[in-house]
Amino acid sequence: MIVTIDGVAASGKSSVASGVARRLQLPYVSSGLLYRAAALVALDEGLPTDRAEPLLASLEAQPVELRPLPEGNEVWRGSQDLTERLHTSEVDGSVSAVAQLQPLREWVNDHLRQLPPPFVAEGRDMGTNVFPQAEYKFYLTASPRVRAERRVQERTADLESVEAALVLRDARDARQSAPAPDARHIDTGLGNLEQVIAKVLSYLPDPA
Ligand code: C5P
Repeated sequence: MIVTIDGVAASGKSSVASGVARRLQLPYVSSGLLYRAAALVALDEGLPTDRAEPLLASLEAQPVELRPLPEGNEVWRGSQDLTERLHTSEVDGSVSAVAQLQPLREWVNDHLRQLPPPFVAEGRDMGTNVFPQAEYKFYLTASPRVRAERRVQERTADLESVEAALVLRDARDARQSAPAPDARHIDTGLGNLEQVIAKVLSYLPDPA
């Protein structure tokens, strides 16, 4: 079984996907972390974010690995754990550019398709491009203000600028963020995390 949870930035995808996965006793897979890892490699190595070749060459020379552990996803490059460095505002600011590069998207998708089901996969295009065959698909939304308020709680930043950055990232990500026609839409601004997780679970079979 594959469950996909797509949605806009800061719509609560990771919290909902990991909560649902925990209840189903399945791993959850965060595709955004692979895009973030690629953006971090570009930043660290001074590589352009508008050309795929140098970045892919670097990722081939020293591969990045997504580890969907039960307690959360980790991203490693050789003996280096990149996980803690994937949510900085520098990475936020360059990840959408990297995610526009089609060869880079294929690199991410190949990585994801090698993971053994069952799992809960979270991102932008899990239910459309990557796992169109998934049995259960969800698409999370929330207003820019609600999403900005959540991010401000996670980081020290002011609401207005966080909201503006989110709206900009939505616009840049729009191309790969269309919901699957067969996805159920859930507005995560209408309930707390537990209520949203319960809503998703209500559409899924009970864990055996
Ligand atoms: O989900 P998260 O916000 O961590 O994703 C970071 C970025 O990675 C997104 O803003 C988007 O540019 C890119 N992304 C994507 N396709 C996915 C997941 C993430 O393009 N499936």
